[in-house]
Amino acid sequence: MKKLIIANLKMNLINLQERERYFKLFEKELAGKTFPNTEIILCPPFVHLEAFKKWKNKKIKLGGLNMFPETRGSYTGEISPVMLKSLGCEYVILGHSERRRYLSENNHEINLKVISALKNGLTPILCVGENKGQEIITVMQEQLRACLAGVSRVKIENVIICYEPVWAISSNNPDHLPTTNEIMSARLLIRKFLVEKFGVKIAEKVKIIYGGSVAPANVVETCIDSDMDGALVGKESLTPYSFLKIAQIIDKS
Ligand code: PGA
Repeated sequence: MKKLIIANLKMNLINLQERERYFKLFEKELAGKTFPNTEIILCPPFVHLEAFKKWKNKKIKLGGLNMFPETRGSYTGEISPVMLKSLGCEYVILGHSERRRYLSENNHEINLKVISALKNGLTPILCVGENKGQEIITVMQEQLRACLAGVSRVKIENVIICYEPVWAISSNNPDHLPTTNEIMSARLLIRKFLVEKFGVKIAEKVKIIYGGSVAPANVVETCIDSDMDGALVGKESLTPYSFLKIAQIIDKS
């Protein structure tokens, strides 16, 4: 099973110059490197997708940062899964805590998006995780139950689940990160939920990754020793050197 490293570029690369600079730096860092065991997925802002599609080489896959559950119509300002596919996306990040916080997205809306992504041939990267002070078991069980409602045994294999404790995201200035054991416990919690809902055989096929301040200096503790299948990377994905360093460490693990 291939590992994953996913760049959450958020609302960055704010003009064409920044985008072109990113391409140049990325190409420079990518030259001569191979990642036989890892899928590299870049999720840029929608406005850059076409350029990323033209620029990217075979080593890279693309994902959207969000989507609307309907495929077309009168939904001003929204992006459909079919549009994402036509711009080369194979993945889509759903339920990110920043969308829950700033756009008031709830589990029901995220569930509609998960179902629609699967129906339209996109792999959802479903983010779950607790806020500071929240009880992890209660929050995660409810998020998993509600966001995965109606997902069939056949389709669940195509869902990636990302454990991302909200307090550990770099922009929330964490004073510490979860320990390897804490991340392992979160992984077990997700696995247990999947086993109970879909059975052991199917649950084993679902990839579970970690997100929250992943950097070259902590990827071993956060993503490898904790037995995660990869990483969702925000801030460090803006620096191709660091991002590909993390990818190399994951690839060789
Ligand atoms: P971070 O972001 O790596 O900057 O903490 C991760 C995310 O928000 O997905």
